[in-house]
Amino acid sequence: MSIVFNKTKWTFTLQTRNSSYQLQIGNLNYLMHLYYGPSLEDADLSYQIMQYDRGFSGNPYDSRYQRTFSLDAQPQEFPTQQQGDFRVPSIQVVNADGSRAFDGRFQSYQISDGKYRLKDLPTCFATENDHVQTLEILLEDAVSKVQVTLFYAVFEETDVITRAVRVTNGGTGTIHLQRIMSACLDFLNGAGYDLVSFPGRYGQERQVERQKLTHHVHTIQSVRGTSSHQQNPFLILCDHDATEDHGDCYGMAFLYSGNFLAEVELDQYDQLRVLMGIHPKQFDFALAPGESFEGPEVLMAFSAQGLTGLSHLYHDFFRTNLCKSKYMRETRPILINTWEAAFMDFDDRKLVEIAKSAQQLGVDLLVMDDGWFGKRDDDNSGLGDWVVNTNKIKCGLDTLVRQINDLGMQFGIWFEPEMVSEDSDLYRAHPDWVMEIPGRHAVRSRNQLVLDLTRRDVQDYLIRSVNQVLDSANIVYMKWDINRSITDIWSNALPPERQGEVYHRYVLGLYRVMDRIINTHPDILFEGCSGGGGRYDPAMLTFYPQYWASDNTKPLDRLKLHYGTSFLYPISSMGAHVSESSPHVPLKTKAVVSMCGTFGYELDATRLNADEIAVCREQTELFRTYYPIIFFGDYYRLTDPFQTGNFTAWMSVTKDRSAALVSVVVTNLTVNGPQEYLHLKGLDAKRRYRVGDKNLVLSGAALMHAGLPIPREVPEFSSMQFYLEAVENVPTEH
Ligand code: DGJ
Repeated sequence: MSIVFNKTKWTFTLQTRNSSYQLQIGNLNYLMHLYYGPSLEDADLSYQIMQYDRGFSGNPYDSRYQRTFSLDAQPQEFPTQQQGDFRVPSIQVVNADGSRAFDGRFQSYQISDGKYRLKDLPTCFATENDHVQTLEILLEDAVSKVQVTLFYAVFEETDVITRAVRVTNGGTGTIHLQRIMSACLDFLNGAGYDLVSFPGRYGQERQVERQKLTHHVHTIQSVRGTSSHQQNPFLILCDHDATEDHGDCYGMAFLYSGNFLAEVELDQYDQLRVLMGIHPKQFDFALAPGESFEGPEVLMAFSAQGLTGLSHLYHDFFRTNLCKSKYMRETRPILINTWEAAFMDFDDRKLVEIAKSAQQLGVDLLVMDDGWFGKRDDDNSGLGDWVVNTNKIKCGLDTLVRQINDLGMQFGIWFEPEMVSEDSDLYRAHPDWVMEIPGRHAVRSRNQLVLDLTRRDVQDYLIRSVNQVLDSANIVYMKWDINRSITDIWSNALPPERQGEVYHRYVLGLYRVMDRIINTHPDILFEGCSGGGGRYDPAMLTFYPQYWASDNTKPLDRLKLHYGTSFLYPISSMGAHVSESSPHVPLKTKAVVSMCGTFGYELDATRLNADEIAVCREQTELFRTYYPIIFFGDYYRLTDPFQTGNFTAWMSVTKDRSAALVSVVVTNLTVNGPQEYLHLKGLDAKRRYRVGDKNLVLSGAALMHAGLPIPREVPEFSSMQFYLEAVENVPTEH
C-alpha cells in the first residue's frame, strides 16, 4: 500500500520506495503537514508538533481559550487565508459577499488505485508497470462553502509524489479566485537548507544558483506569460552541506508553461514554507456557483543521495511517466537544421544541396527552419500565414520532401503557431485576433504580435492550418517555436470583468492546440523551442520528447547550460547541435558537447571540406553507438563548469552498469599544473572495465576511488571520450 490512513491517529502516510510523506487531520480539523523525508513507514510523527502561546500569533475562534494553537506556528498542507497565519498563503479568494477569507477544514477523503486526472492540463501518467495510488482530501470553508480538493498521487517505485488542487464554488454567488498554489511544503525547522534555482537569460538558460536561506520570502517566478529563459519552474532544497553524492535533497517541479511562482519563506521561528503555483499577477478567475478551477501539477521528489540522486529520480520519471511520444522509446534521427546555415535565405535547390551534403555526414533528417511560408524574407512579416511560399519552394512541399526522401533523408519543418506579423494576410483579415489592450498599441517584440489563444476560433485556425501542412507531405519532425514574451493581456472575446483570466486561458488554449496537433500525429517527432530554451518546462515535455536547449551553440557556454539543465531534465530531452560558432574549438569537441543532448548539426554542410566531412561521419557513427548509454543510462555530473578548473567532465552509465561513456572537455589548461584524476561514478565497484580501446582494464572501485588520470599533454579546447565496457574473465593487471 502506498497510502495508509491510520484511523486512530488520523494520519495519512504516503509511502514510496525510499521516502515517506505524512499529513494529519489535526486540531480543529485543520490539515497538518507532519513529515517529508527518508522512509519511516507508518510511524506517527504528530509528536513533532509543539504548541506554545506565541505572541502576536492569533488563535482560531474555536480555540480562543487554548492560546497555544495558532496557524501561524503550525505546519500545514494548504495554508488558509486570514486565519491568523501571516506567512504566504495557498489561496486568496474574494467571496460572493466581498469578504476575503478561506478557512478550509477537513471534510472527507478518498484513497483509490491509479492516478487522478485533471481536465484541461497536461499531467504525468502511470505506466502499467507502476504502482500508483491517489489520495483526495476535501477541505471546505463553512461560511462561503468554497471547497478545495487536494490531490496526491504516489508513484511508489519511482519515489515521486505529485500534487494538484481543485477549487469549487459550493456557494450561491460568484467568487473570484486570485491566488491558488498547487502545492505547499512546510518544514518545522528549515534553517539548515539551501535553495538551488535555475535562473538565466536569452542564450544563457538554466544557470545554477545556490543560496543559504535567510529570513525572508525568496521568490522564483516568471511573469512573462511563459515559463521563460529567466527562471525555470523548478527548485531544489538541500542540506546546507549536501553534495552531488550525499545529503537530503527535495525537488519541486511545476507542470505549467505560463506565469508561475515559487515562494520559499523562512519565518520568525525558522519554519520553512515552500509554495508553488500559478503566479497571482493579473490573475482573477471568476467561478459561478458549481464551477471549478484546477491548479496544475507539482512533481515532488526526495533523495537522501544528494543532488545526483535527485536528478536520477527526475530523469527516470521524465523518461517513463511524462511524454507518451513513441520517440521516448525509439531511436531518434540525427538532424541537421538550416537556421544557422541559411537563416531565411534559401530555396528548394539550396535545401536539396544541404541535404545531399548532410547525407554524407550520416545525418538522417533535414529540418527546414523559419522562412518557408507566407511572405517571410526577414522577421518583420509572414507569421500566421502557414502556406508554403512557392517563390522559395518552387517545386512545392510534397515534391521537395520526395526529393529529400530519395536521398535517403527524412524531412522536418519549423512553425511558430502562436504569433502573427502585422504584415501578414492573417493579421489583415483578423486584426482582432491579437492580444492588444483597447485604445493602446501592443508592445512589439521581434516586431511580432501574440495571437489570442484564449479564443476558440484562433485555436481552430491554428489547428487547421498547421495540420494541413503537416498532412500535405511526408513530414516526420516539427519544431514548435515561440519568440517573444507575452504582453498586452487582453482578449477581445472576454468581457472586461474576466480579463484577469487571460493569462491562464492563453495557456489552456495553447495546450488544446498542442493536443490537437501533436497527439494526432503520433509518428512525428516534435521538438519544442522558444528562442532557444525559453519555455523548456516539464509541461512542455509532456508533448515534446526534446527541446532546443538554447540558441547559444558556443560549446563552452553549452557546458554550463547542459550542466544546469541536467539537474531536472534528462539528456535525451536536450536539443544540442554542432555549429560553426567558436571556430577555435575543434569539431570533435563540439560533437562531444552535443552528445550531451540529442545531437545534430546546425551548419551549412555544403561548405565542409573532405576532412571535416570525415570527422562528422565518425561523430554520427559514434553517436549511434553510444545512443543507448546517453539516452537511457544514468547521467553523472563529474565536475562543476561554474568553478574554474582545467576540465569539464560528465558520464553516463547503463542501468546494468555494464558500459559507460565518460566525456571530458579541456576548458583551460594551467601551465605546468598538477596531474588531475577523474573520479568516476555509478560503476560496479566489483566489476572490471576495459577503458577505451587501450589494453587497460581496471576495477570499478579503482576508477571510482583512485580515479582515471586525465592526460595533460593535450591542446586547450580538445576533448576526450572514454568508452568503458565491463569485461569478464580478464586477468587483472592493476
Ligand atoms: C529561434 C530559434 O531558437 C532558432 O533556432 C530559430 O528557429 C529561429 N527562432 C527562427 O526564427
